[in-house]
Amino acid sequence: MNTQPKITDFEVGYDIPAAIGMDESEIQTPCLVVDLDALDRNIDRMQHFANAMGVRLRVHGKMHKSADIALLQIEKGAVGICCQKVSEAESFARAGVKDILVSNQVRDPAKIDRLARLPKLGARTIVCIDDKDNIADLSEAAARHGTEIEVLVEIDCGAGRCGVAAGEPVVELAKAVEAAPNLTFSGLQAYQGAAQHVHSFEERKAKIDAAIDMVRKTVDMLKAEGLECAIVGGAGTGSYYFEGNSGVYNEMQCGSYAFMDADYQRVLDKDGKPISEFENALFILTSVMSHAKPDKAICDAGLKAQSVDSGLPVIFGRDDVKYIKCSDEHGVIEDPNGVLKPNEKLKLVPGHIDPTCNVHDWYVGVRGGKVEALWPVTARGKAY
Ligand SMILES: Cc1ncc(COP(=O)(O)O)c(C=O)c1O
Repeated sequence: MNTQPKITDFEVGYDIPAAIGMDESEIQTPCLVVDLDALDRNIDRMQHFANAMGVRLRVHGKMHKSADIALLQIEKGAVGICCQKVSEAESFARAGVKDILVSNQVRDPAKIDRLARLPKLGARTIVCIDDKDNIADLSEAAARHGTEIEVLVEIDCGAGRCGVAAGEPVVELAKAVEAAPNLTFSGLQAYQGAAQHVHSFEERKAKIDAAIDMVRKTVDMLKAEGLECAIVGGAGTGSYYFEGNSGVYNEMQCGSYAFMDADYQRVLDKDGKPISEFENALFILTSVMSHAKPDKAICDAGLKAQSVDSGLPVIFGRDDVKYIKCSDEHGVIEDPNGVLKPNEKLKLVPGHIDPTCNVHDWYVGVRGGKVEALWPVTARGKAY
């Protein structure tokens, strides 16, 4: 059952920055605006790549945190979603997503208990582990609730965060999962996160090739022990074509491709050109609120409207003005020719999309200059 509030429960300008049918220029700022045509094209393109490579697409919902967008991706062919937190998984499951991988470790007993209840919301529930003790806790909780949890053993294939070393440690954990009541060993989690934003194509490829090698050897070792990997998952927007064509990975977990951000647009393809298969579909719409200085405009999208950990936003479609710094509520725009006017609206391409989406309540979907969709950021702030 979808427990999201209905759009009619809100008032424009009070709880909600836009209304269906409104002109794009009337949207209240700062606000996340989705170009619905570009979003459709991005979703279709990645799905097409996945289909052509013969792998499943399990989109990463942590990027947009939107049940509406996840359900759209599933309608267009994705098998389900990944998310990182139990609270995100709960939001997606309540909104009707039926196949959810928490691509992370869950250790707190209270969170394990919540995870074990997810199947009762009708969702296939999959989680990652990298430690034997975690297996016992998951098994106990699933048995307590009479549910089944699928488990992926996570390999650290170069990111240097969670995951055990490839090979024997994985086999050991996989056997322990198989032996645990109410758990099923479903395969491997092998996401090389440190490679995604490496700008150089060759360097990126070398990192992913190394990961693929580790994963291939581990899959073979598991097979020799009679353990089949229904899921060999990983890959993101910066590397999907490597894993997708590896013949080993069978699920891709791409997230950013649906919206794209300024940092991903600095990642280069094999010809040394910025990757171009996906378009900017998500913008922070902002308004100029002051032009008291002739060469600087101040806009209303500062630090509280975005994350700048991967660099400042880029002003979409403009090379005559530049976003140069921000404080909590202010963005400073260099405007050497004084072309911007108070209340003029600009579209910012965020530097890093995931943490930017997490600080907004709404997506305003626009097509042909008119507001067509209002989607809550369903799992906004769901980090627990
Ligand atoms: C486990 C995992 N898989 C996939 C992704 C998706 O990557 P991207 O948004 O770069 O496509 C991420 C992103 O950080 C991730 O943590």
